[in-house]
Amino acid sequence: MTERRLEDVSDRNLALELVRVTEAAAIAASRWIGRGKKNEADGAAVEAMRKAFDTVAINGTVVIGEGEMDEAPMLYIGETVGCGGPAMDIAVDPLEGTSITAKGGPNAIATVALAERGNFLHAPDIYMDKIAVGGGLPAGVVALDAPVKENLKNLALAKGVEIEELMVCMLDRDRHAEMIAHIREAGARILLIGDGDVAGVIAASQPGTGVDMYLGSGGAPEGVLSAAALRCIGGQMQGKLLFEDDTQIARARTMGISDPNRVYTIEEMAKGDVMFAATGVTSGPMLNGVRRVGHGAAVTHSIVMRSKSGTVRYIEAHHNFAKKNLGL
Ligand code: FBP
Repeated sequence: MTERRLEDVSDRNLALELVRVTEAAAIAASRWIGRGKKNEADGAAVEAMRKAFDTVAINGTVVIGEGEMDEAPMLYIGETVGCGGPAMDIAVDPLEGTSITAKGGPNAIATVALAERGNFLHAPDIYMDKIAVGGGLPAGVVALDAPVKENLKNLALAKGVEIEELMVCMLDRDRHAEMIAHIREAGARILLIGDGDVAGVIAASQPGTGVDMYLGSGGAPEGVLSAAALRCIGGQMQGKLLFEDDTQIARARTMGISDPNRVYTIEEMAKGDVMFAATGVTSGPMLNGVRRVGHGAAVTHSIVMRSKSGTVRYIEAHHNFAKKNLGL
């Protein structure tokens, strides 16, 4: 087999290994759905994901993770994971939607993205302004620093629809009040979500969801994961870090961010060949949540994709805990 084909085979295998990692996290978190305990749900997902990484054939470094070494016991930024192999950067959110899970709401996912070393933006745990649209549109059809109305006008034109038909997805937060008013003034509709903007950004690139654009601020780490997903599934995204004070700016400098005002393109957040996997914890338009089948089994629903091939694969897995010890 040629070297190139060998590389392709190992990439494909790696993508499937990633799903095992998100499945393990989702199953562990699912025990906490609706119990009002978001930290416990997150802790269970982190522990299961950490354990699952032990068998993945990479030399991985967490660059987007659960926090710094002194604040997170596992999957902290800088932690190495995997059992040896190519040097990769890893972005994780073992439970994206901790509050959703605690409340039993929709759209919580366990998620991971992988790139060759040095290819993810090392985003600090602050807010990021985000804008995203799906694939197949002219480059630059929307821009973070353009007025909302102009973005909506250009998007409607590119899609051949009226602005009134556009649906914008955003987090339901007081800080978005002005933006919400501008969107409504322009005539577009808004899908306000309680939490989970990774799924929100992905929704903008999936025709069946009815979402045309994602807008607003959310976590910067989630922004990098969303960018990785869009690199695979197709779409445009821009992000700008929102610093609250000089301490945050100084901290970002130590992470390699020299210009605090920079608007990052999707490639600047996740470049090169990227893989992305997510497993539903609770059900949403993209993925079904974990379905427990009696005490000894569960069904999971995942998405896995690679930027190199552009293939988007949905995987339904039936887990038999009597045969596979997931530590549950
Ligand atoms: P958690 O999983 O930590 O609960 O994050 C959920 C989330 O909604 C993210 O998807 C989003 O990026 C961020 O929180 C927004 O933060 P905030 O709730 O402070 O607006």
